[in-house]
Amino acid sequence: MPSSPSHPAFTLTRAATAPLTPPPLYAQLREEEPITRVSLWEGRLTPWVVTRWEDARTVLGNPAFSSDPSLPGAPTFVKDTPQSPRGFFQSHDDPVHAAMRRTLTREFMIKRINALRPAITRLTGELISSMVQLEQRPVDFVEHFALPLPSLVICELLGVPYADHGFFQTHSKPIVDLTATAEQRVAARDALVAYLLDLVQVKRQRPGDDVVTRLAAQVDDGVITDEDAAALSTFLLFAGHETTANMIALSTITLLQHPEQLPRILGEPSQVADAVEELLRYISIVHGGLRRTATQDTEVAGVTVRAGEGVIIPLGVANRDPHAFADPDELDLQRANARQHVAFGYGIHQCLGQPLARAELQIVLPEVFRRLPDLRIAVPLEQLAFKENTVVYGVHDLPVIW
Ligand code: HEM
Repeated sequence: MPSSPSHPAFTLTRAATAPLTPPPLYAQLREEEPITRVSLWEGRLTPWVVTRWEDARTVLGNPAFSSDPSLPGAPTFVKDTPQSPRGFFQSHDDPVHAAMRRTLTREFMIKRINALRPAITRLTGELISSMVQLEQRPVDFVEHFALPLPSLVICELLGVPYADHGFFQTHSKPIVDLTATAEQRVAARDALVAYLLDLVQVKRQRPGDDVVTRLAAQVDDGVITDEDAAALSTFLLFAGHETTANMIALSTITLLQHPEQLPRILGEPSQVADAVEELLRYISIVHGGLRRTATQDTEVAGVTVRAGEGVIIPLGVANRDPHAFADPDELDLQRANARQHVAFGYGIHQCLGQPLARAELQIVLPEVFRRLPDLRIAVPLEQLAFKENTVVYGVHDLPVIW
């Protein structure tokens, strides 16, 4: 993307030799100009970008910054992004955001998620067993493990038949693909919402112990509409597998590159929990950054961001800030303050699904290395196809042998 005359183009391109390190431009900016303008949409928009951990939290924690992508000046990836249905509450501000989020908070309470742990453990074991029995080598770890695992878990939680995974995985792709047009994204989203709208009706007739059934009950109680229930479920279905799937694949690559630290991921539960926090910090899969628009003049890092101006917060860059984390480019699975990362965002929109994501990673990663101690990547790292043009960073496929 060409830059405007005076501002560098916002880029997601990483150094070919360092696919797990955020683009080097931002590390330089963080030291020289921690809030600065970049250009988007071929120079037609020049939002701010903040690169320090502290400033990232200041912006994300301030209600003067809106999450509505349809506001004029909103620094979205795709120009003319329309507003989403209110069930996609990540794109709404309070009070709509709070009202929608409230319908789901009980679903992600630690107690509920802990009750899912045995099912996650069982699914992990079954998928590894099936993978081991495959005759071909190498095996694509993304196709046979990293993607189906979170997909099966979110289906179990929501009450969505996993048999339909081909349909919803196909329609999830344009939503995260930065090369898709606004029309393609809306069409994919609407197809998913229509599918979930049907499922809400099915659950009303044949209730189960699942989120869609409980959302249908909230419709019947007059709390939300059928359309809200469908959009809320769609959002979870989609948010629940793209993110965790990429984290599983990239964590596996990262761990294989640091074999000396593998004992930590095979250690006590508290060591595993710390290791997972460090992997979340180090990898920071939401690589395009969060996007906000100022609704009033607000000072950030000594600069006045005017009402109507956009701010991009690249989370991976904040998570590599040496002012917040010592030797930030080093993976240290024993890092004492790893949990202060902003990989799940910060403020009112902080990831609702984080207890589930943590549970999955804490169960899956030790199990993979316990069951496949000789696991290795079948090609050199440079030959892996990393996902650059997607909202969430990852690998398209990961050929492995053991
Ligand atoms: C490692 C995995 C994950 C990562 C790194 C991640 C990251 C994030 C981030 C950075 C945000 C903040 C967005 C913003 O402020 O604009 C977010 C929000 C959200 N995430 Fe996650 N997520 C993960 C897994 C999940 C899972 C498994 C679910 C659900 C099943 C989920 C559901 C949500 C929801 C509903 C929101 C919107 C919260 C709000 O706007 O109040 N996420 N996530």
